[in-house]
Amino acid sequence: ADDGYRLWLRFDEIASEEVRNDYRQSVGQIFIDGDSPILATAGKELSDGLSGLLGQSVPLLDRAADGPGIIAGIIGQSDLINGWVTTADAEKIQEEGYLLMQKEQNGQQRIVIAAKDERGVLYGSFHLLRLVQTQSALSGLHLIDNPKIKMRVLNHWDNLDRTVERGYAGFSIWDWHQLPEFLDVRYTDYARANASIGINGTVVTNVNANALIFRPDYLEKVAALADVFRPYGIRIYLTARFSAPIEQGGLETADPLDAGVQKWWSDKVAEIYELIPDFGGFLVKANSEGQPGPQNYNRNHAEGANMLADALEPYGGVVMWRAFVYSNEEPEDRAKQAYNEFVPLDGKFRKNVLIQVKNGPIDFQPREPIHPLFGAMPQTPLMMEFQITKEYLGQGTHLVGLAKMYEEVLQTDTYVKGKGSTVAKVIDGSLDGHELSGIAGVANIGTARNWTGNLFGQADWYAYGRLAWDPEIAAESIFEEWTKMTFTHDPEAVSVINNMLATSHETCVRYMTPLGLHHIMGPGHHYGPGPWVSRMPRADWTSVYYHKADEKGLGFDRTASGSDALSQYHPDFQKELRDMDKISHKFLLWFHHVPWDHVLSTGNTLWVELCREYHRGAAAVTAMKEQWNSVSDHIDPGRFRQVAMHLDIQEKEAKWWRDACLRYFQSFSKMEIPADLEQPE
Ligand code: GCU
Repeated sequence: ADDGYRLWLRFDEIASEEVRNDYRQSVGQIFIDGDSPILATAGKELSDGLSGLLGQSVPLLDRAADGPGIIAGIIGQSDLINGWVTTADAEKIQEEGYLLMQKEQNGQQRIVIAAKDERGVLYGSFHLLRLVQTQSALSGLHLIDNPKIKMRVLNHWDNLDRTVERGYAGFSIWDWHQLPEFLDVRYTDYARANASIGINGTVVTNVNANALIFRPDYLEKVAALADVFRPYGIRIYLTARFSAPIEQGGLETADPLDAGVQKWWSDKVAEIYELIPDFGGFLVKANSEGQPGPQNYNRNHAEGANMLADALEPYGGVVMWRAFVYSNEEPEDRAKQAYNEFVPLDGKFRKNVLIQVKNGPIDFQPREPIHPLFGAMPQTPLMMEFQITKEYLGQGTHLVGLAKMYEEVLQTDTYVKGKGSTVAKVIDGSLDGHELSGIAGVANIGTARNWTGNLFGQADWYAYGRLAWDPEIAAESIFEEWTKMTFTHDPEAVSVINNMLATSHETCVRYMTPLGLHHIMGPGHHYGPGPWVSRMPRADWTSVYYHKADEKGLGFDRTASGSDALSQYHPDFQKELRDMDKISHKFLLWFHHVPWDHVLSTGNTLWVELCREYHRGAAAVTAMKEQWNSVSDHIDPGRFRQVAMHLDIQEKEAKWWRDACLRYFQSFSKMEIPADLEQPE
């Protein structure tokens, strides 16, 4: 049975002979003008993929042939390509970008892939494959596509013992034990999948880092992985445990201002670059959730980050310093702490430091307002950190398409430089004119045969890559591509599956945390409902810390009468949220403590609205099951069943969430659950 291992890189023969014949005319042979490992990858991918799709061998030629076909190469290096690309077009192509066109010149027909560097040729090749996979027309094709974000990386929360923190797809795909000699074919397939969506970097170790990775034998293993990734344009990065100089170097301190510590890091970095000349740099979680950091020595985040940045600078490496910091001892609202710590440091970081910020101020909740740091540190490049693994959204079992959520975050207006100052423009560097820009996605990949455990998790990996390339792409068009590449071309089935992807995030929010509720999951594992459980380390982080239910009402007052987290946003942003009668219901209980009998804009009281949302969410999962059943004729039985079985779990658990949360909140509201609520059909 088809187990989904091939992801969206399925190049089965196109069913219609007419369509196949059409493509044979235009892309029946390939010539890549140039010689390098990345160009060779592009050629091999094109040849393998097209041969499958067209049902005949699509050869890779060693010189340009007469007659139609693909020609690819680098502008300025290839005379052939120079002859086909106009100066005007060439000027528009940027680093890693490409021109993809169909052109007739002197009676010759060609599909041209032209770029300024070899990665551009690789990405253009995958774009062409995607067009054929989705059976798009090639005639008249003329597009220039440049990535909007420079560093497009995955973060693996993978431990050296192969467990994966918040991983729901089996164990880590990095087999450290057998590296560096044994190179699992998965490493190559992983690199192909990432290259196909433009991902150009990967952090292979957990943010809760283990300093062991810096031991020479481990670095050799890392170098072996880097060698596999390099021909696919992917650079490797590592997480740096701040106390590594003590643990691996035998020093007495890890104080960033200590000369011995600085030397240890410079030497270590030199050693790494000796093995991995294109090493990307470090990702650091410091002074967060018990991790060591500069504050242990009364230094601040900038002093810590800069010390590492100085060590990496001579080699072009960067530091991705995370802003996910909060302290249990701190009496301040957790949502405010990162802003308080980081905003005063704006302008104090070295040029090769990026601050990596989670999309929201708490922690990857089903829905959060944007993090207040976006737009608040104009002198520092901020990276987005999205979670692809679904820690708080049903983990490996629930079907929840994340692209809509990413889109919502990226398109949110911070207003910091007037209307239109979206989060996307903050992180692509355009708002504040930063050269360096980056985005990170916490991977959902593991040893599961289909890579992501839940088959639909593949869609989230795919969507993350596409949005990292261009955060302005509409989620809907990403679904369209993915569904056609992954499942079927049947128009009806495609639209049903796209609809599941488009609505499932809102559905999950409804049955888990409607109206701006958050962090009411069971503590520790973060899976099922647990608004009543308290294992919080702080006296006031009792069970009600995040939802604050009491006899009067529900929700966290973050306005001026409460924690005033709202004041960390731009005044125009605050305006949208300040008034409980005007705020979008999405964020109502995030910012306001609302009386149970308060009448909302829907005409319902808060209590009735809450009951309705939970019921709508659970009913929507039942409807989703029916939608999936309706496409069964168009999906192979192996993958169909995988999804169907997960939907059974999701249906059961959506009801669990609904009933458990409503019964619990009812113990405060003391109101009846209305009888006429939406039930599964
Ligand atoms: C969450 C998650 C942790 C993770 C942390 C982080 O709190 O539950 O497992 O380590 O985020 O992002 O650092």
